[in-house]
Amino acid sequence: MIHFTTAIYFIAVLMFIFGIKMMSSPRTARNGNLLAGLGMLLAILITFVYIYFFHSSEPNFYMKLGIMILMIVIGSVIGWISARKVPLTDMPQMVALFNGMGGGAAGVIGYLDLLHSHGNVALKILAALAVIIGSVSFSGSIGAFLKLQRWINDRPITFPGQQIINFLLLLGSLIFAYLSLTQPMYANILVLLPLLLGILMTLPIGGADMPVVISLFNAMTGLAVAFDGFAIQNYTLIVSGTIVGASGTLLTFLMAKAMNRSLTNILFGAVGKIVGGEETQKVMKEMSIEDAAATLAYADKVIIVPGFGLAAAQAQHKVKELMDELESRGVEVKFAIHPVAGRMPGHMNVLLAEADIPYDRLYDLEEINEEFSTADVALVVGANDVVNPAAERDSNSPIYGMPILKAYNAKNVFVIKRGRGRGFAGIDNELFYMDHTFMLFGDAKDVIGKLVQAIKKL
Ligand code: TAP
Repeated sequence: MIHFTTAIYFIAVLMFIFGIKMMSSPRTARNGNLLAGLGMLLAILITFVYIYFFHSSEPNFYMKLGIMILMIVIGSVIGWISARKVPLTDMPQMVALFNGMGGGAAGVIGYLDLLHSHGNVALKILAALAVIIGSVSFSGSIGAFLKLQRWINDRPITFPGQQIINFLLLLGSLIFAYLSLTQPMYANILVLLPLLLGILMTLPIGGADMPVVISLFNAMTGLAVAFDGFAIQNYTLIVSGTIVGASGTLLTFLMAKAMNRSLTNILFGAVGKIVGGEETQKVMKEMSIEDAAATLAYADKVIIVPGFGLAAAQAQHKVKELMDELESRGVEVKFAIHPVAGRMPGHMNVLLAEADIPYDRLYDLEEINEEFSTADVALVVGANDVVNPAAERDSNSPIYGMPILKAYNAKNVFVIKRGRGRGFAGIDNELFYMDHTFMLFGDAKDVIGKLVQAIKKL
C-alpha cells in the first residue's frame, strides 16, 4: 500500500511540475492551472485512502475523518465563492489571504509534529523551522491582506526600535525552537513569537510594495511546507513546497528588479511614508473625443500603454474594439507592457488576453521603448507611475530608478484617466503637463467606448 500511495504522490508531483511549466506561457496557463489543481485533488484523495488503510482502527477514527471532510468542504466552498466573486483588481489581497492560510497550515503541521513526534532531532529542527517560517508567513500575509484591503492604514507604519524588536523576536523564536526540541511544551510559546514578528515585519511596508512582500511570504510558505515534508516524511509536501519556495523567490526578485529596488529597501525602507509633495497648480490640457479620434484614426502607429486604471475600469474589451477599428484603417497598433503595471505580476497580460488581444501585439518594456519616438500617439490608459519621467529625472522621487515606458517620446501623448488622481506611489506626474500631452478625462471604459464611436463616424 505504501508503494502504491508513493507512486500516486509521484504522479501528483509530476502534475504540479508540468502545471507550473505550462503557466509560463499565456497560451497554456489556464490548462496548467487546471492540471496542477487536479494534481492537488489526487494528492488529497490518496491521502484519505492512506489514512483509511493505516488508521481506521484507531479510536474516534470516523469522527476525525468526518471533521476533516467537513473542514475541506467549508474551505472549498469559501475558496470557490471568493475566487468567482473577487474582482481582478483585488487579486493581490486574495493571494495574500490564501497564502496566509498555507503558511498557517504549514506552521500547524510543524507544531503538532513537535508536540507529538519522537523522531530524530534533525527532523524536529525542520519542524521547528516550519513553525517559525509558517507562522511569520501566516500573520504577515494577514497583515498584508488588511493593508491592501485598506481595513488598516496601508501606509508604512514605523516606530523607534522596530528593527531591534524584530531581531529580538527572531532570536526568541530560535531559542524557543531549540528548547522545544527536548521539551515539547515550549512549542506553545514558539508559535506566538513569529506570529508577532510577521505582523511587525509587515507594518513598515507601503501599499505599493505589498505585492512583492506577498510574493516573499509565498516563498516562505513553500519553504515551511518543504520542511514539514521532511519532518513528516511526505514527498509531495517536499516537492510542492520546494516548487512554491523557488518560484516565489524568483518572482520576488524579478518584481524587485522591475521596480529597481533591493529587497532590503522594500522590507526595511518604509518607502511611501512621506508621499507626494503639495498639489501642483500646473494645468493639464484637455482634448475633445472628436479631436483625439481623428488623430488616432489618421495615425500610422499608435502605442497603447495600459495601467491599473484599465483594470479598474474593466476596459479591456473596449480596448480590443479600439484596436480592431484602428487596424481596419491601416493603423499599426502595439501594446507596451510594463512589468509592474497594475497590481500583480502579469496583470496587463491577463487582462488583454481575456479580451482576445493577440500576444504578438504585446511588447515588453525593453522591446518597445525605442519605438515610442516613431509613434504618432502614445495612448496611456489608466497608467501613471509606469510612465512617470520622475523615475528617470528626480533623484528624490520614491520611484527614482524604476525603468519606465518612455511614452513621453511619442509625437503626441493622450492620457485617459478620471481626474487628477495619483498612481500607487502617490506622486505627481510631469508627463501629464507636457506640451504634447492631452488629457481625456473619464472612466477608461467610457472614454474608449466614445473614441470607438467617434472613429467609426469618420
Ligand atoms: P498607477 O500608477 O497605480 O495609476 C493608475 C491610474 O489609473 C491612476 O492615476 C488613476 O487616476 C487611474 N484610474 C483609476 N481608475 C480609473 C478608471 N476607472 N478609469 C481611468 N483611469 C483610472 O498604475 P500603473 O501605472 O499601472 O502603475 C502600477 C503601480 O503599482 C506602480 O507604482 C507599481 O510599482 C505598483 N506595483 C505594481 C505591482 C505589480 S506586480 N503590478 C507590484 C507592486 C507595486 P485617476 O484617479 O485620476 O483616474
